[in-house]
Amino acid sequence: MIFVTGGAGYIGSHTCVELLNAGHQVTVFDNFSNSQPEALRRIERITGKQLQVIEGDIRNPAELKTALQTSGAQAVIHFAGLKAVGESEQQPLRYYENNVQGTLTLLQAMQSCAVKTIVFSSSATVYGIPQFLPYTEAHPLSATNTYGQTKLTVERMLQDLYRSDATWRIGILRYFNPVGAHASGLIGEDPQGLPNNLMPFVAQVAVGRREFLNVWGNDYDTPDGTGVRDYIHVVDLALGHLAALNRLQAQPQCMTVNLGTGIGYSVLDMVRAFEQACGKPIAFQFSPRRAGDIASYCADPKLAAEHTWRWQSQNPQGYSISH
Ligand code: NAD
Ligand code: UFG
Repeated sequence: MIFVTGGAGYIGSHTCVELLNAGHQVTVFDNFSNSQPEALRRIERITGKQLQVIEGDIRNPAELKTALQTSGAQAVIHFAGLKAVGESEQQPLRYYENNVQGTLTLLQAMQSCAVKTIVFSSSATVYGIPQFLPYTEAHPLSATNTYGQTKLTVERMLQDLYRSDATWRIGILRYFNPVGAHASGLIGEDPQGLPNNLMPFVAQVAVGRREFLNVWGNDYDTPDGTGVRDYIHVVDLALGHLAALNRLQAQPQCMTVNLGTGIGYSVLDMVRAFEQACGKPIAFQFSPRRAGDIASYCADPKLAAEHTWRWQSQNPQGYSISH
């Protein structure tokens, strides 16, 4: 049984689909602060399989402990948290409470229930200002905002935990920019209010919910002057969690892995690609740079690729034929 905190959210819902498709049983634990229970019904429709759903908050130790025990959880994939960079600067304590205290409470509950496998959603934001590109996992870490600081703090907490008890199995996944949606069109990203991120904003312009996109800066040192990022399809990201679970199952460890493609695209590249996909022009205007933005970055995805290759080459038929 895989226990998925934040499983009703954007990345969590896509990961639940892949977990169910791969034959896992799944319990979603979510307080629906940034998602809708409808997403869970859609997951069941896509997969034709049932999920167990527990409405609860990762800041509540009693709820968590009961949920871990009653579900029979063997491993946790931990998506639950708050993720808006600007909001984290306005409400730092709320971010520390949800992201840091919530994760601490989760780890304590896991420890007391002897569940010692966790995959954690970290972010490329922990690399801070690039000292070299592409970012390898060994790039120095720093935070330029409160959200990033909460991710960095949790990463350190997980590493300290593993140092104290090497029977834990911990996967820290540093996501680059997740985009896209499941091919069925039944689940996707549904931000509340004004989207902060590029692709949900572009999508809302395309359907007429917003008049135009502000392109934040066209004077960066990039091929067309707009910001360059490493966009990874959310289903590929979801599959990265299954690969991480497989690797953790093989042996206890604390591993940190980038999940990106290694290829950078500009804001205008993304707008043009979306125009082609939807067959409509996307209105945009150039606006001043957004505070805190970096011109360009992308992942070095070699480690994730090597892990996948090592797993697949040693287990060509997956678990179905043991060696
Ligand atoms: P999301 O907001 O769509 O999903 C998060 C889910 O967690 C939501 O369903 C929300 O209701 C739930 N949740 C929040 N606080 C909770 C709490 N205290 N108790 C229980 N449930 C709670 O976000 P997402 O884009 O799917 O991101 C998932 C994770 O990945 C987050 O930890 C985020 O920081 C991280 N991440 C996201 C991105 C991105 O660009 N989307 C990039 C890097 C890392
Ligand atoms: N952008 C616009 N207009 C918009 C929104 C974004 O031009 O309305 C531009 C940004 O300036 C940037 C690019 O589009 O150049 C991507 O911006 P996003 O806000 O979509 O993503 P970020 O790279 O700023 O950050 C995202 C998540 C963070 C996460 C980081 C990890 O928001 O939480 O990816 O790499 F930490």
